[in-house]
Amino acid sequence: MKDKLFENIIDNYEDLKYDLLKAQTFDESHFGFPDIYYKIMETDKQRVDAFHNAFKINNNLQGATVCEIGVGTLPLTKLYMPHVKKAYLIENNPDLIPFINAEIAKHPWANKVEVIYADALTVELPEKVDYVIGELMSIYCANEFQVQIFQHMREFLKPEGKLFPNRIVNFARLCTADIDPNIHHYPVNFTRHQPMFLTQQFLVNEIELLKEKKQGVTLSFSVPVLFSGEVNALYLESYVEVTEGSNFTGTDSLMPPTVLKTTNTQQVKAGDLVHIDFNFDYGSSLDKISCLLS
Ligand SMILES: C[S@@+](CC[C@H](N)C(=O)[O-])C[C@H]1O[C@@H](n2cnc3c(N)ncnc32)[C@H](O)[C@@H]1O
Repeated sequence: MKDKLFENIIDNYEDLKYDLLKAQTFDESHFGFPDIYYKIMETDKQRVDAFHNAFKINNNLQGATVCEIGVGTLPLTKLYMPHVKKAYLIENNPDLIPFINAEIAKHPWANKVEVIYADALTVELPEKVDYVIGELMSIYCANEFQVQIFQHMREFLKPEGKLFPNRIVNFARLCTADIDPNIHHYPVNFTRHQPMFLTQQFLVNEIELLKEKKQGVTLSFSVPVLFSGEVNALYLESYVEVTEGSNFTGTDSLMPPTVLKTTNTQQVKAGDLVHIDFNFDYGSSLDKISCLLS
């Protein structure tokens, strides 16, 4: 009942804390995500609208040949399909095959589609395309192979072709966070409060998906401390430019702001500079990020 909803949320706050994390965790045993995660994504208006606006900015991809990687339950596909000339749709979650086939068959654009059930890290396309669309984004591109997939798929992009998204910018803040034993990271959506930030937000790295050659990030830098205390975590945020003029960040379905335990803890004083050695591979695991403070 609606009048009890708020009360129920308060009663269940602690139990809900890790449910989004669980829903978003790619499960190797069935190559995909649980149904609830597809529901979260489909109903995430900010995420879907950012892609929709990006398509509109690019003339609805009118008359183009496109490839979409990881089509899921097709919420983005349906937005551009009426306008394009041809689309290669790639998905590797076998649980979705019956749904995708049945859904496509309902639409008048079905004959413009070629569905390829394959791994986008190795798939080959029969021709070059004008646009590659791929929403497989975990925060920092750490848990999913977004970077490696786009590195492979850009081979099939025409010289003037575009990627959606185009750019991902990763930010962090040092903080004191409440972290349960055995937990390495968690999205903040169902927590009662933000961690206590001890620094301002700082830029960690920028990923231009059309150009990125690296497989990961190795950085060493210092940031000024604003409040004295113990740093035990990073607060991670990723901002996404789907195309120039259409951006988003911090939705629940995609790249939610995330608290990540640092490799060591460090007592800091307001006015200090804290040094950070930061290192991780794209598409490995957020839990493997090394963030050493000194
Ligand atoms: C974050 S979901 C997005 C789904 C859909 N595009 C949407 O916007 O709701 C990413 C999808 O990519 C698929 N996927 C992940 N890795 C893949 C890979 N290597 N090759 C093909 N599909 C992949 C997943 O199964 C999932 O359906």
